[in-house]
Amino acid sequence: MCHDAHGNEHQNLGGNNMTMSPHDVIGAGRAAVVTGAASGIGRAVAEALAHAGSAVVVADLDGDEAEVVASGIRADGGDAEAVTVDVSSADAVEQLAKTTLDRFGRVDVLCNNAGASTFNLLRDQTLDDWRWVFGVNLWGVIHGVQTFVSIMRDQGTPAHIVNTASVAGLLSGVAFIGPYSATKVAVVSISETLAQELAIDGVPIGVSVLCPSSVDTRVMESERARPSAFGVEHRTEVAESVRLAIRDSFTGPSGLTPAQVADHVLDAIRSRRFWIITHPGERPVFEARVTEILANYPEA
Ligand SMILES: NC(=O)c1ccc[n+]([C@@H]2O[C@H](COP(=O)([O-])OP(=O)(O)OC[C@H]3O[C@@H](n4cnc5c(N)ncnc54)[C@H](O)[C@@H]3O)[C@@H](O)[C@H]2O)c1
Repeated sequence: MCHDAHGNEHQNLGGNNMTMSPHDVIGAGRAAVVTGAASGIGRAVAEALAHAGSAVVVADLDGDEAEVVASGIRADGGDAEAVTVDVSSADAVEQLAKTTLDRFGRVDVLCNNAGASTFNLLRDQTLDDWRWVFGVNLWGVIHGVQTFVSIMRDQGTPAHIVNTASVAGLLSGVAFIGPYSATKVAVVSISETLAQELAIDGVPIGVSVLCPSSVDTRVMESERARPSAFGVEHRTEVAESVRLAIRDSFTGPSGLTPAQVADHVLDAIRSRRFWIITHPGERPVFEARVTEILANYPEA
């Protein structure tokens, strides 16, 4: 046990940090928090961070699966704590931070990754669809930033925040996933603002935004994490067929595994790279969007 700057007792992360540079935010003696870490991309990122030596808080609404992931990390010789959290709740995210500091005394990396989507044309999306998706994808990121940036600032050591957006955050309008796309555009925007403002302040906290396309996860079964208070999703037949087609693309030639995406994430954290764009496939769609916007700019 040792004590942090506030005199609180916590586990000494120890490890072989003789080889660590003070600028390293991943490795022995460092702690990371990953939300949505019971499954998919979050799980792979948590496991990769643990493999690299960081202690990891495996945070998820699904506490049982989070514990499975944390136990697996510990069985492999790593250090992990499972925490049940609903990221759409500010209080729950504050409690997550408290648990992290109680357990590890610090936080060097935060991955705001939990996410969910509905599938319907806008005319068929209910207000509860919007509220649920915004609560997880947008408010989850806002709560993470609001709670953890001040902790990282007070710590005074280099740190890094990765916000999981999506390629939808770059393409902006995407049929059948309107609420999801809107949150992901907002996550890109918040990440860009945060990076600019931390640079203005000269604070050593890096920011990255993860914008993947198809990754072989359970995001297409998001409704499993939908609280009953938001009712159930009623997908139209055409929306369901689109959902199944998208799901098939996850394991197709352009799909990536969560572990491949986690490699991109750790590489971006280490090199302090802002944009994490993992798939080349949608580049022409993005270029067409930018070209159309530029074509509508008035001449100076
Ligand atoms: N899989 C893809 O193709 C893809 C593409 C682009 C972006 N993303 C994004 O990647 C992130 C991770 O998703 P994934 O693909 O690994 O899906 P996934 O469904 O496998 O994992 C999402 C995790 O988030 C958790 N979660 C849901 N609501 C939560 C809440 N309120 N509080 C805490 N945890 C909650 C779920 O329990 C689950 O463990 C999401 O933000 C998603 O939008 C995924």
